[in-house]
Amino acid sequence: MLRSKTCGELRLSDQGKTVTLCGWVDSARDHSGVFFVNIRDRYGKTQTVFYSTMDAEQFNLVRTLRNEDVIRIIGEVIARPEGLVNPKMPTGEIEVKVEKLEILNRSEVVPFLPGAPEIPSDEMRMKYRFIDLRRPEMQRVLIIRHKITKVLRDYFDENGFIEVETPILGKSTPEGARDYLVPSRVSQGAFYALPQSPQLYKQLLMIAGYDRYFQIARCFRDEDLRADRQPEFTQLDVEMSFIEMEDILEIMSRLVVRLMKNILDRDISLPIPRISYDEAMERFGHDAPDLRFGMELKDITDIAQSVDFKVFRSVAENGGRVRGINVKNAADQFSRKDIDGLTAWTAEQFGAKGLVWFKVDANGKLTGSSAKNFSDESLAAIGNRLEAEPNDFLLFSSDSFGMTCRVLNGLRRRLAAQLNLIDPNEMNFCWVVKFPMFDWDEEENRWVATHHPFTAPLKEDLQYLESDPGRIRAQAYDLVLNGFEVGGGTIRIHDSETQNRVFSLLGMTREMAKQQFGFLLDALQFGAPPHGGLAFGLDRLVMLFAKMDNIRDCIAFPKTAKATDLMTGAPSPVAPKQLDELAIKTVLPESNQNLKTIENS
Ligand code: AMO
Repeated sequence: MLRSKTCGELRLSDQGKTVTLCGWVDSARDHSGVFFVNIRDRYGKTQTVFYSTMDAEQFNLVRTLRNEDVIRIIGEVIARPEGLVNPKMPTGEIEVKVEKLEILNRSEVVPFLPGAPEIPSDEMRMKYRFIDLRRPEMQRVLIIRHKITKVLRDYFDENGFIEVETPILGKSTPEGARDYLVPSRVSQGAFYALPQSPQLYKQLLMIAGYDRYFQIARCFRDEDLRADRQPEFTQLDVEMSFIEMEDILEIMSRLVVRLMKNILDRDISLPIPRISYDEAMERFGHDAPDLRFGMELKDITDIAQSVDFKVFRSVAENGGRVRGINVKNAADQFSRKDIDGLTAWTAEQFGAKGLVWFKVDANGKLTGSSAKNFSDESLAAIGNRLEAEPNDFLLFSSDSFGMTCRVLNGLRRRLAAQLNLIDPNEMNFCWVVKFPMFDWDEEENRWVATHHPFTAPLKEDLQYLESDPGRIRAQAYDLVLNGFEVGGGTIRIHDSETQNRVFSLLGMTREMAKQQFGFLLDALQFGAPPHGGLAFGLDRLVMLFAKMDNIRDCIAFPKTAKATDLMTGAPSPVAPKQLDELAIKTVLPESNQNLKTIENS
C-alpha cells in the first residue's frame, strides 16, 4: 500500500501518529513561508502543512505543486491551533505536518477545478468526465448508486431470486421504441438489436422454471432524450412465476421500505398508496402524478355548457373538456406579463390554443379579462367548484381531454416549483394501477399496447378484446416517486391463444407474429406458468434518492442530449475496411459530409 490512511479519516484522536496520505492537490496556499496543501481523495480532504524548517529540497518541491498533481506525503498528525479548526471539514480539527513529499504524477493545468464550488459548463464536464467525476458531488452520487445496487442484490438474494444475465445482442422486434442495431459480419445484411429491456428473455426464464429472477440490466432505446431519459440506461429487472399482481406490489413495496431505510435512514409505512390510471388523469392530468402538493385539476365542463363564452361552450358541447387548477393565494404574484408568459409557454410546450384565467378579488369574486363574458352565477359556480378564496389564481384549459391533461399537468408542475410548494426532502411514492391496455395511435391509425404487447388484460375485460379494445384495462402497475415513473410492470399473457389475439389486434397477421415472436409463441405452448414482473429505472431511482435533477449526473459516463459521448467522440465514423466486412455502404446527408474525412482517410 502506498498510503496508511485516506484523506477523509484522520481525527483529533490520531494526534501524534505518523501517517502516509496519497491524493490530488486540491489547493496549495503560501502563507508567508508556510505552505498549506489540501490533499483530496474520494474519502475527503486533509490539510497538510509544510514549514520552511523542513528539508530545503523538499520545501522547494512544494513550491512547484499545481492543482491536481498526484502526491504522497508522510507526516505527523497535529491538532490545529485554537481558532483555526474548520468545523465544516470532518478532518477539520487536525492537519498533517509534512516531513516528506513525493510527487507521484504531475498534472497539466486542468480545464476546471474539481474542488471548486462553481459547477463547470455541461460541455466541459462531459468532455473531461474523468475530472468531473473527481468532484465530491459526483462521487457522492456514484456511491449512492453503488449502495442502492448492493441493497437490491442483497434483498433479492434474501428473497430467493437469482440473477441471470441475458443477451445484449438480440433480435429486433417491432413495438416499443426505436432499436439500436448492430450489423452482423458473419450474416451480412442481417442485424442484431440491442435490448430495450430483457422482457422476453425473462419471460422465457419463467417458462424455463427459474421462478424468481432479477437482473441489473443495461437497456438501449434510440428515443428523444430528456432529463430522465438516456439512450443507454439501467433497469432493475424482476420476474416471478405463480404470482398475482398483489404479490409483485408487495415484494416491490417492501424493497422500497428497505431502500428508504438503508439509503436515507427513513421509515415509511406500508401500504404505498394506490391510484387508478383514470383517477390520476382526472385529478392530476398525468399517469405519474406528483402528489407532493395539491393544485388538483377540477372539471367545469358541465358549467361551461351553459355559458356564453364561446371558448368554453363550444368545447363543452363538442365532447371536449374544460378543466382548471387553483393556484392558492398567488393572484398577486402574477402580472399580466407573467400570465402572457404562461400562455406562451403552454402554446410552445404543448400546442395549447390559449389559457383562460381569473383572479379572485377580496370579496371572493372572479375577475380578469374574460370575466365579462360570464354571468355572475356562472362565475360563482366556477369559483365554488374550484373552492376559490380571495387572492387565488385560477387557470383553465378548454380542449380535448388529452390536451387539458398535458397543459394543466405542465402548469401544475411548473407553478409548484416556481412557488416553492415542494418540500425538497419529501419522498412521495404511489402505485398507479388499472392502466388501459391499448391506446389509439392517431398517426398510425391503429391500436398500440400501452405497456407492451405481452401484458395480460384484467380477466373480466378479456371479453372486449375484439369488440371494444379501448375499454380493456391491463394488469399493469407503475411505481411513481415524486412525479417520476420509476418503475413499471405487468402480469403477462401466458397462453399463445391470447397472445396471438393481442398481436392480431395490434395489426400483426399470424405469419408476421410467427416471424417476429415465433420463439415466444412456441414457448407459450410448452408449459408456460402464470407469471409477471416489473422493472425499475435504476438511474431515475438514484436521481431521486440522491436529490439530483438529471439522470445524466447519476451515470458515470452518460451521453449528451444528442446521444453522443463528448469524451470519447462516440459515435464516430469507422474505417472503410470495417464497413466492407459488414457489406455496409453509408449514404451521408449533405449536413454530415464532414464525417467523410475520416472515412476516406
Ligand atoms: P418500461 O419501458 O416502463 O418497462 O421501463 C421500466 C422503467 O425503466 C425506466 N426507463 C428509463 N430510464 C432512463 N432512460 C430511459 N430511456 C428509460 N426508459 C425507461 C423507467 C421505467 O419505469 N420490460 C418492461 C418492464 C416489465 O414489464 O417488466 C419495461 O421495460 O423508470
